[in-house]
Amino acid sequence: MNKDLLTIYDLKRDDIEEIFQKADHLKQVREKGTTYQPLKGKILGMIFKKTSTRTRISFEVGMYQLGGNAIYLSSGDLQWERGESIADTAKVFSQYLDGILIRTFAHEEAEKLAVSADIPVINGLTDLLHPCQILSDIYTIRERLGDIKGVKIAYVGDGNNVANSWLLGASKMGMDIYIASPQGYQPNKKIVEKALLMAKDNGSGVEIMEDPYRCVKDADIIYTDVWVSMGKEEESEKRWEVFKDFQVNLDLIKRAKKSVLIMHCLPAHRGEEITSEVIDSERSIVFNQTENRLHVQKAILEMLIGR
Ligand code: CP
Ligand code: NVA
Repeated sequence: MNKDLLTIYDLKRDDIEEIFQKADHLKQVREKGTTYQPLKGKILGMIFKKTSTRTRISFEVGMYQLGGNAIYLSSGDLQWERGESIADTAKVFSQYLDGILIRTFAHEEAEKLAVSADIPVINGLTDLLHPCQILSDIYTIRERLGDIKGVKIAYVGDGNNVANSWLLGASKMGMDIYIASPQGYQPNKKIVEKALLMAKDNGSGVEIMEDPYRCVKDADIIYTDVWVSMGKEEESEKRWEVFKDFQVNLDLIKRAKKSVLIMHCLPAHRGEEITSEVIDSERSIVFNQTENRLHVQKAILEMLIGR
């Protein structure tokens, strides 16, 4: 596995399989209540330029459970807010810390940090990608359905960081990914190209479309995310209008397989991208996703920081 985890694109399928096997072990350890502390004495710095509930708590708790520590660094408290370069900051971090988690706007910032840091850098969400989320989601599907090969994911909504990471994750793992988004809000074109190339090698289907009904036909999983991502708040009114036909509701899920599972990375905006009836239904596995963030990210921490 590479030093950093910035994108699923850089992971090998074997790396992902190893993450999942370690996550199985860590989940069992937690269920049995036994102690397993491979990261004793290790410290993770966690930089957040955007808000977070799940990512912050699961990484911080994950470090403690593995015997290490985590330091929360609100970006406003760091000298780089006053112009210290990312490269210098990365060198300093490398002297004190054993790993860095970063949630920021520009993906390039996470890349720059990783290039200059001697320690692992983990992407906790950028405007472009959210790899830890999608790895945890694929793990959740593997747990529910067993074999993930050929599983059809229908992503309905904004072609954002979560959709982009789905394209990379599904095409790498031999799953089918269909995305329905309005014109102008479709996933990043370069990522779609990368996904199409990987899909050829791995036997995946990849298709971007505008019709949510066609998208969910025969789907095993329907996935959605907010219409207004962090940093896009000023576009809220326009987005509510553009996305109004892209809601995951009872009418839409009827078109999928009877056994369809409903997923959402959370936080959800009920009544916008998803209705309460759907997210609270027995088909919904959104809180399994949340739980598995902890186990999968602990596996990532163990692999990157513990070696
Ligand atoms: N899904 C997710 O990353 O949630 P947070 O924004 O709460 O971290
Ligand atoms: N697309 C959302 C995901 C939040 C976890 C955002 O970037 O705000």
